[in-house]
Amino acid sequence: MSNDDPNATGGTQSYGGADRDVSRETSDAFAAFDEGEDSPLAREMIETERRRRELSEADFPHPSRTRIFAVTNQKGGVGKTTTTVNVAAALAQKGANVLVIDADPQGNASTALGAEHRSGTPSIYDVLLDDVPMARVAQQCPDIPTLWCVPATIDLAGADIELVSVVRREYRLHDALQKLMKGPGRGLDYVFIDCPPSLGLLTLNAMVIAQEMLIPIQCEYYALEGLTQLIKTVDMVRKHLNPELSLSTIVLTMFDARTNLAREVAHEVRSHFPQQTLAQTVPRSVRVSEAPSFGRTVITHDPHSSGAVAYTAVAQEIAERGRHQEQESGQA
Ligand SMILES: Nc1ncnc2c1ncn2[C@@H]1O[C@H](COP(=O)(O)OP(=O)(O)O)[C@@H](O)[C@H]1O
Ligand SMILES: [Mg+2]
Repeated sequence: MSNDDPNATGGTQSYGGADRDVSRETSDAFAAFDEGEDSPLAREMIETERRRRELSEADFPHPSRTRIFAVTNQKGGVGKTTTTVNVAAALAQKGANVLVIDADPQGNASTALGAEHRSGTPSIYDVLLDDVPMARVAQQCPDIPTLWCVPATIDLAGADIELVSVVRREYRLHDALQKLMKGPGRGLDYVFIDCPPSLGLLTLNAMVIAQEMLIPIQCEYYALEGLTQLIKTVDMVRKHLNPELSLSTIVLTMFDARTNLAREVAHEVRSHFPQQTLAQTVPRSVRVSEAPSFGRTVITHDPHSSGAVAYTAVAQEIAERGRHQEQESGQA
């Protein structure tokens, strides 16, 4: 994005940025039309479309081995599920083989990926508690053939407690996913585990198999609250259960570059986590929030929207950073 963009702030890229509703988005389009191509709104729309075209022509590098992300933040409503499904869909649309594991009893990731998840549907619960192979419960996403979802049903609600008395309780997901990746999941490029808003056994299971943590942060008051606890948990997991785990990626979600608060929080996050925080932020977009009600991600629901463009750019950044890391460690 060019430096003269009205929403750009130091080191931050943003598309859209306003807190919109449907009527607002429609009237924005008319306003842009009325005001001509020089209005900030029109410039923003033109820039979003230019960026969309640029991204649609770009090739995203594929990793040489499966990258497994635990998408965590014990705060609810910060954009974990939205980030999981949209980044996964954007990567899959670029030809990557992607699996989303829904590890939240609410099953929101399953909804967004169009996966059946009524109570009783074979799901992550059966994998974790009854040793059912993951391949048997995974569903193909109707919109994107290289995207798969292991759904969560409400049955998972008791799993945090039920798992306590199970053998290798912290390793249930690890064992199931390892088995999948030695068999039908051999060609997976990415696995994203959408965690519940707590640091219980489900989240712990995700951290034990993941190599990377992806933390969405909403730029609002208390954004950093709880992050200390999360980091302590990561350190504990790294020490005792999974030395490979790294907090690799932070995404700023529902970012509104027009408010001082969002800019201040973004600045604070970047100063604490300069390496981890992606340059690309995700704006609020009504298209993003309505997409799940169509059983879709915003990537297929409205590829021209600011949210779809931003999440595709996030996916590109994640893919590129993976390639750099491989080059640095001499894997490529
Ligand atoms: N970029 C965005 N624009 C508009 N709404 C969003 C955006 N990201 C998330 N939301 C909405 O915010 C709410 C919380 O997001 P969600 O991804 O479910 O958070 P979490 O999984 O952390 O609980 C949802 O209603 C979602 O649709
Ligand atoms: Mg969620």
